[in-house]
Amino acid sequence: SHDAEVSWDDEFQQLVKTFPKVKSWAGNNLYFYQGFWCPALVLKSVISFQKHFQALDSDVIIATFTKCGTTWLKALTFSTLYRNNFTKDENPLFSFGPHELVRIFEYDLYLNNPFPDLENASLYQPRLLSTHLPYASLPTSIKDSNCRIISICRNPMDMFISLWHFTEKLREDKLESVSLDEAFDKFCNGIYGFGPFFDHVLGYWKASQENPNKILFLKYEALKADINSHLKKLAMFLGVPFTEDEEKQGAVEEIARNCSFDNLKELEVNKKGLHSSGIPHTDFFRKAKVGDWSNYLTPSMVERMEKLIQEKLDNSGFTF
Ligand code: A3P
Repeated sequence: SHDAEVSWDDEFQQLVKTFPKVKSWAGNNLYFYQGFWCPALVLKSVISFQKHFQALDSDVIIATFTKCGTTWLKALTFSTLYRNNFTKDENPLFSFGPHELVRIFEYDLYLNNPFPDLENASLYQPRLLSTHLPYASLPTSIKDSNCRIISICRNPMDMFISLWHFTEKLREDKLESVSLDEAFDKFCNGIYGFGPFFDHVLGYWKASQENPNKILFLKYEALKADINSHLKKLAMFLGVPFTEDEEKQGAVEEIARNCSFDNLKELEVNKKGLHSSGIPHTDFFRKAKVGDWSNYLTPSMVERMEKLIQEKLDNSGFTF
């Protein structure tokens, strides 16, 4: 009701005052909330999502860190999960951006709306939705139900360079550009939306180790190296393995091709369209290379990052 919303608004304003606040290198505010730096823009929607979302056992949630391959994973999962809902030539991926087809809770569905109409938000069943929240902060119903989670990580140096380019593109004109040095320093201190990165990655990785049927953990570089075997794994995980017939007819290769960087980047919708958040779809497609960091990071930056990686992953059993 209206009254409930007003009182939640007041409660939220009080709550926010208690959280540490910093400016990100992109110029927006970040609040330290539940152990991560939450972009001010979405703090309220994150809390609404945590409070109100009811997961169904059939839900599939794409839960990723930014710039680790979310767009690709959305395209792959959408095309695999719903492949029997449309004919080959009519994959909605050809007319809609991956971020329109797989909507995100905090930047889209729950933004300015504590009770979004999720029935109409997801065009197909089972529901396929997404988030950038760390595992520990997921709504309890996601953790406690039998819904499936898919996560992807990426080499931190490539992820950082990708993020740096992305924030430069989105920077408001009036704000001065930030040097790579300055951004790198903040990166090493974990200060950027949903950071620290390492906690995020380890959170999903550990959860996937404990519950591999619930959480599929992927690596960007591994997908690049062999997309077909990962697509088969993904389909199996989703409970819709490719049939022998499908494999013979090249269904796996076709999805891989449709979702490839070169294909998606050249689609009219991704060249011209805007996401509901105002971000042009084209900003989600840059180079898609493994190791592009080597064109940007100085030897001393690399050394600092390598030390950081070692320190953060120490004894975890995880490697990038
Ligand atoms: P680069 O900036 O290194 O090019 P996210 O989707 O999580 O925002 O990540 C964006 C990164 O994934 C960008 O990396 C982007 O180019 C890359 N990317 C986008 N679509 C892709 C695809 N279909 N295949 C592989 N990489 C893709």
